[in-house]
Amino acid sequence: MNRKVTVVGGAGNVGATVARAIAVKELADVVLVDIAAEKAAGIALDIYQACPIDGSDSRLIGTADYAASADSDVVVITSGVPRKPGMSRDDLLNVNYKIMQSVVEQVVKYSPNCIIVPVANPLDAMCQAVYRLSRFPRERVVGMAGVLDSARMRTFIAMELNVSVQNIHAFVLGGHGDTMVPLPRFSTVAGIPLTELVEMGKLSQEKLDEICKRTANGGAEITKLVGTSAWYAPGAAATEMVEAILKDKKAILPCSVFLQGEYGVKDLFVGVPVKLGRGGAEEIIEIRLTPEEQAAFNKSAASVKELTGVIGV
Ligand code: NAI
Ligand code: 2OP
Repeated sequence: MNRKVTVVGGAGNVGATVARAIAVKELADVVLVDIAAEKAAGIALDIYQACPIDGSDSRLIGTADYAASADSDVVVITSGVPRKPGMSRDDLLNVNYKIMQSVVEQVVKYSPNCIIVPVANPLDAMCQAVYRLSRFPRERVVGMAGVLDSARMRTFIAMELNVSVQNIHAFVLGGHGDTMVPLPRFSTVAGIPLTELVEMGKLSQEKLDEICKRTANGGAEITKLVGTSAWYAPGAAATEMVEAILKDKKAILPCSVFLQGEYGVKDLFVGVPVKLGRGGAEEIIEIRLTPEEQAAFNKSAASVKELTGVIGV
């Protein structure tokens, strides 16, 4: 295959899920890099052995040696500690920043032209760390969170209204934390905004508020049930981004990108809609927010800023 994706942290829950999804979709060859070298080798082999059944010619290897990752088109970084019940994503800041420092140096050395998709938490602060450490142009560091948060919101809307998830579009912006900003005005069922469904009496305001709250709490809900953080939906979300990049789809997806004045925010990674293609985040899409939505967005950006300040990135 002439496309190559490296997943750093590939022996972990999210990393292995991304690797498997890429192989099932036959998007690229996949290198699983992990400090747990044997586990990475074993997981890569296991996924590789599923390929004949999946009808995929993706090739996989697992290793601790970044040389195998050389010239990757996309590098997904899931290496990092996940949260345990009761922990917030922010509790992971210092430990995951240390991991990022060693990882990014190797990624840049072996794949200087790649697009990096950070996944480790706290997501937006880790993106900023990757951006500063890599010195890549901002288009080539695109964090995964909004796709996941929006998928969670779509799921909750589908559950409430008993309609196909395919008819539902949802937008969640802001930082990937408790202050994330679900936007009902831009979230639709068959093109009808949720706010209009409320006016039409098809959805109560109370249920809509519950959906937004459950979305913002989506990660913690799974962590409490499972004992560690989620991986299936996060893996699927990162894979959607990888696919959009490799296939140059120009897909509009909510991603964490380095804002330079857009949405009134400067020099900070926050989740906004972007056009994803072969160049990475090729365009930042600015939608007009109401004063209330903008205030919620600003609050979310401020909480990201607090974290980036702690690690000085
Ligand atoms: P995990 O513990 O299953 O996997 C992490 C992997 O990273 C392990 O295999 C570990 O050996 C590896 N690792 C640790 N240090 C490393 C290093 N220096 N170099 C290479 N590999 C290293 O954790 P899981 O569940 O896969 O989560 C990974 C990260 O992703 C966590 O920080 C979690 O909070 C975050 N996450 C973010 C989401 C998002 O929406 N952005 C969603 C879900 C998880
Ligand atoms: C999630 O939202 C923990 O960020 C992770 O599931």
